Amino acid sequence: MTDLKISRRKFVQSTAASMLMGPAICQASKVKSFRVKKFEPFSFVVMADPQLFMAGEIFSTNQLIRAVSYLNQLLPPFVVVCGDLTNVAYNDYGVIHETEVYFDKFSQMNSLIKRYDVSGNHDIGTPPTYESIAWYEQRFAPIWYSFIYRNNLFIILESDLLKNSSNIEELANKQMLWLEDELKKSSRAKFCNVMLFMHHPLCLGSVTETEQYFNIGIVKRQEILGLCHQYNVKAVFNGHYHNTAYVNDNGLEIITSTASSNAFNEPTDPAGLRLVDVYEDHIVHTFYGYSAMPTSLTFPVYT
Ligand SMILES: [Fe+2]
Repeated sequence: MTDLKISRRKFVQSTAASMLMGPAICQASKVKSFRVKKFEPFSFVVMADPQLFMAGEIFSTNQLIRAVSYLNQLLPPFVVVCGDLTNVAYNDYGVIHETEVYFDKFSQMNSLIKRYDVSGNHDIGTPPTYESIAWYEQRFAPIWYSFIYRNNLFIILESDLLKNSSNIEELANKQMLWLEDELKKSSRAKFCNVMLFMHHPLCLGSVTETEQYFNIGIVKRQEILGLCHQYNVKAVFNGHYHNTAYVNDNGLEIITSTASSNAFNEPTDPAGLRLVDVYEDHIVHTFYGYSAMPTSLTFPVYT
């Protein structure tokens, strides 16, 4: 038991170190690792595509204000933002204002809530470039990283590299090697649950569906699915679709949340937030439109 504890500690240190290093062009990490000895259930929040200023500056800004207001009421330990944080390309003149609004509105979020950003196609482009990635990492977060909370491992991936890595193949391969290494270490550390987060859905209706704009191509999809099954990943959370979609592939949940801002299928699939309850060996998740948002989490961390 003692050896296991030491091994786990080493893993955490190792994970933190690799997280801090991140991709080769990563500037600095904004993330920290957490760990407790005894597991306690907890709840966290996933949101997708705030995508400021898609569908207008006022509309999208008000939707983000709404999201932050509900987050402040729910008070989760963290929220994962599944990509497309802003709308225009990184080298468009309007991106500076969009980014300022993103940080300004999130500055109103209770500081107890940590925000973990995921890069999307509107953030770094498809295919991304070293320049667009550097721009993103200087402002938001590494394009891939992991963090630990209550003995659960959360892995953030860059899905534009999975979708199309033309002219940047070396970095795409590096991410895949990092992912496999991270999952190998996770199996030795015996985390309660391992979850992946990326912008593009692996698939929308079936793991064998053909590639289109909103999903990942079949070759890379199968590669990721193989790793997920080999290392017992519980779920992959996505955005990008602006609609809800769900696939259960032999126990692996592929969960696509509609946008927190401009949901394409209002009012039947309205904009909102996904609440995730984490148990020792499984997760339970529900998406709520803003008008039906609960007033508290199943397992509040802060009381
Ligand atoms: Fe997207």
